[in-house]
Amino acid sequence: MAVHSALKLVEHDQKGVDLAFRSDVLRGFGERQKAIPARWFYDRTGSELFEQITQLEEYYPTRAETGLLERYGREIARLVGGNRAVVEFGSGSSVKTPLLLREVSPAAYVPLDISGDFLRQSSEELAAKYPDLPVVPVEADFMRPVTLPDCVRHLDILGFFPGSTIGNFVPYTAADLLRSMRRTLGERSQLLIGFDRVKDVRRLIAAYDDAAGVTARFNLNLIDRINRELGADMPRERFRHVARWNDEWSRIEMHLEALDDLEFTVSGQSFAMQRDDTIHTENSHKYTPNQARLLLQVSGWTPTEIWSDDAEDFAIILASATEFRSAP
Ligand code: AVJ
Repeated sequence: MAVHSALKLVEHDQKGVDLAFRSDVLRGFGERQKAIPARWFYDRTGSELFEQITQLEEYYPTRAETGLLERYGREIARLVGGNRAVVEFGSGSSVKTPLLLREVSPAAYVPLDISGDFLRQSSEELAAKYPDLPVVPVEADFMRPVTLPDCVRHLDILGFFPGSTIGNFVPYTAADLLRSMRRTLGERSQLLIGFDRVKDVRRLIAAYDDAAGVTARFNLNLIDRINRELGADMPRERFRHVARWNDEWSRIEMHLEALDDLEFTVSGQSFAMQRDDTIHTENSHKYTPNQARLLLQVSGWTPTEIWSDDAEDFAIILASATEFRSAP
């Protein structure tokens, strides 16, 4: 079946400026430790660079998770059951989704993504591959509860949140997001979610600071995007990519570090940085299986199964929306 028309929920001003992008950047640059939410990496160039990252030798998560879906897809489909709609959060990926869809054979597939261009392209490709599957893309920010298209309202839903994207959020926000997903997907839904596991710090750093410099370009692309979309004059060549391990929070952090004292403007507002100051651009939290299970439990999801690769690099968890009933 053809791709149904995308529902567009992202707001722009008269000049086409993404209002949420501008307010996130202006707010984040006004704080002592400058910061930008990681979701803004994914314009067209950023999404393409991320696809390149997934193929890097040092970047193990995509290979590990893909391997898990290949190996356990049948078992996952058996536990999930038939006649479900699959709703994917942040549908960037062209490789993992077919691995799930081919085993689960859902009644409909709803990719949710904030990047409309990329969403349309990957939806076309998927619809071509599965001519009988209704594909209903929704351009939306999944941090807020999303109203699902009418055609999936009567179906039980399997949410799919691969890639360890949950790791981008601090636990407090991750719990909010997982609860919001439960509301979006409904009381009878299930969730298949990927978590990157705690491991040797040198391997973690290498995965986020690769020898070929692709991750550095991914990080620095944010400056190009701000300059282009928000009428800014940030000197890209005066910043460098930094990846560091934060042990207290069990996460990799990416920063853009100023190589000199800098002054620049964004949307008419002036900002200054001193040499070695950074803009914090991403968190990537790493979990033990027990921590991952607890995060799901506190957010209204009951884990039913966990699968991990032989190297114990990555885990996928199947969970069911927790039934709220009187409890002792
Ligand atoms: C897409 C958020 C899972 O945190 O590993 C990859 C993004 N950033 N390299 C991750 C990312 C730098 C990625 N996620």
